[in-house]
Amino acid sequence: MKREEIIIPQADLDRQRDFQERIRALFSARGLSPRACVETFGCQQNVADGQRIMGMLEAMGFTFTQEPGEADLVLLNTCAIREHAEQRVFGNLGLLTHTKKERPDQVLVLCGCMAQEERVAKRVRESYRHVDLVFGPQALWRFPELLWQVYETRKRVFSIEDEHGGIAEGLPVVRERGVKAWVSIMYGCNNFCSYCIVPYVRGRERSREPAAVLTEVRQLVDEGYKDITLLGQNVNSYGNDLDRGYHFPELLEDIDQIPGDYWIRFMSSHPKDASPRLFDVMAKCSHVAKQLHLPFQSGNNRVLEEMNRRYTRESYLELIRYAKSVMPGLVLTSDVIIGFPGETEAEAMDTVSLVEEVGFDALFTFIYSPRPGTRAASMPDPVPREEKQRWFDKLLEVQNRRSAAIHAGYAGRTVRVLVDGESGDGDYPLSSRTEGNRLVRLKGDPALIGRFLEVRITGSNTWALYGEPV
Ligand code: SAH
Ligand code: SF4
Ligand code: F3S
Repeated sequence: MKREEIIIPQADLDRQRDFQERIRALFSARGLSPRACVETFGCQQNVADGQRIMGMLEAMGFTFTQEPGEADLVLLNTCAIREHAEQRVFGNLGLLTHTKKERPDQVLVLCGCMAQEERVAKRVRESYRHVDLVFGPQALWRFPELLWQVYETRKRVFSIEDEHGGIAEGLPVVRERGVKAWVSIMYGCNNFCSYCIVPYVRGRERSREPAAVLTEVRQLVDEGYKDITLLGQNVNSYGNDLDRGYHFPELLEDIDQIPGDYWIRFMSSHPKDASPRLFDVMAKCSHVAKQLHLPFQSGNNRVLEEMNRRYTRESYLELIRYAKSVMPGLVLTSDVIIGFPGETEAEAMDTVSLVEEVGFDALFTFIYSPRPGTRAASMPDPVPREEKQRWFDKLLEVQNRRSAAIHAGYAGRTVRVLVDGESGDGDYPLSSRTEGNRLVRLKGDPALIGRFLEVRITGSNTWALYGEPV
């Protein structure tokens, strides 16, 4: 598709603003101040989308509540990555029938990745008749118009056309106040890893204009945000669709020029596209946190090939070796799938051995979950769940031991952290993050939230460090 067709024209965005105004007028004419309950599931990209949805709702005059029972509108922004995620949403939908009986005017919205799946839309159409509006991630910018249709016609509205997806700039946003912010730099995914639903529900890869990203980051820094994460399913393919020789490393270099006291992070990176040039740029840019989330999924080359990942165990290890050589204190994390269809115990143990070899600071581990419509879902999968669970437990045991050892190595050291909130732990009431994004629970006063501090590490466990300001 041509670039002009991907960038959503200003006139179309203005039209959506009109619908926002109309809905606002609808409530104010009746002297009502509507409340919305928004729940987001899934990854940071979905969280960022949820913040845009809240921005649009705010522009329509809504305030927010955590209580579905008190809300005029309940919105579930869903995730489709594993079966468990979908079950949770259907469970929630079931519970909301009761809420709606008590508030018949309540509007129930289902959006996000699950909403884009035809199978889900069909099930909602037939069995969850209290859902008023269903739309997928590509239709997010048209939410005001779709919601207007619901109020206007009082009929159910489904907008799940299988779209390529566009780029809508300047949508309103409600961010979490404080120190952390998310910035989507691109949308969609072209990689079609054989187990993964994302390319089917989020459309094709499309990169925002560098100038738009730079303006947004500059604003965030001016507003006092200090920990900014650039988001994309594979940030390393940023710019491929722009065709001007401007890619992710160039974007990072330009962002790094923005003056201020802040860290910039990014996720996720795909090992097939991560390059030594990226690591050189990370190493020299002072705002770029020396932290890398580089999912490897499997340590076995046959499984990697079946997953359509397009790199090998050896090339992955070589990338890590290079990254560590230019950033000696690099904090490394990764995602892993155990029990891909046809994986044998020996192959799963190759994953465990890669984990031992690399020494990740933390790992996000998943048992394979078949996603209808993906290639892997039709592959023979003979290994019973209990067997996969055993391999998984072995992996966790190895990783937990490693995490605990890495954390223990911090004892007595003085590190710089950003205090990002309260921890809820009485003795260590503050939560903070190191440059490598490790959690440090701190003694100290809530007035320190939002500040960079030097702290001494006094203790640790598998999941967190403990410290006090020096
Ligand atoms: N785009 C990101 C990943 C997004 S999904 C990337 O490529 O790094 C986050 C993680 O969920 C993936 O890295 C993978 O480990 C896991 N995952 C994706 N599909 C899965 C499935 N069908 N079953 C189990 N885990 C899955
Ligand atoms: Fe899914 Fe692969 Fe795309 Fe990540 S890169 S979102 S795992 S298809
Ligand atoms: Fe889930 Fe969609 Fe993210 S499937 S992990 S919310 S891209």
